[in-house]
Amino acid sequence: MDPTDPGFWDVRYEAGRTPWEFPGVPAPLARFLARHPGHGARVLIPGCGSAHELPAFAAAGYVPTAVDFSTAAVARARATLPPHLEPCLLAADFFLHPFPPAPFDLIYERTFLCALPPSRWPAVGERCARLLRPGGRLIGLFFHGPKEDGPPFGLAPDEAGQLFGGAFEQLHDEPVPAAESAPLFAGQERWQEWRRR
Ligand SMILES: C[S@@+](CC[C@H](N)C(=O)[O-])C[C@H]1O[C@@H](n2cnc3c(N)ncnc32)[C@H](O)[C@@H]1O
Repeated sequence: MDPTDPGFWDVRYEAGRTPWEFPGVPAPLARFLARHPGHGARVLIPGCGSAHELPAFAAAGYVPTAVDFSTAAVARARATLPPHLEPCLLAADFFLHPFPPAPFDLIYERTFLCALPPSRWPAVGERCARLLRPGGRLIGLFFHGPKEDGPPFGLAPDEAGQLFGGAFEQLHDEPVPAAESAPLFAGQERWQEWRRR
């Protein structure tokens, strides 16, 4: 099956086969939120899955939007979200949803890029650039690992720069301690922050 097809993800969520999930808020994101309170900033979580991070963004003062095209993922997220946050969740395709121009101050990445075949990565970079206002940030956990047998498909060491370097300036890049990642990604994630030029 094809990971660009929602059905690929539906069967996995329905069977509870979700080894990419982190059951909570990853520590690097918790540190970011402590350093950067939202004050009403608008954040997008593309390919949000169970959307574990959505309440943390809201609690830190952000206005979150989480989007996923798998109806099973959205149902799972909806089952755990507090009712007042349910309107923040969109069952939609990240590439196709008719967002207004540059509606976000922040985009948070975790295991969305690596879920897609590398042939789709330039489209992810272009879409993120279009959805962020100038000065907005793309932040998150980026999987640096093998490409074979994905998903997950890993970034090569200099590949994020090739993907994002045109539209974004890199602000931070540091390894994530293995203990802070889900076992599938342990020792192979980097926390990165990019600013939209
Ligand atoms: C590996 S999962 C990661 C889920 C979540 N980010 C997490 O950290 O648990 C990839 C997710 O991206 C979603 N996805 C893939 N392509 C998408 C698209 N074009 N639009 C919206 N969601 C998409 C899938 O349905 C799946 O839930």
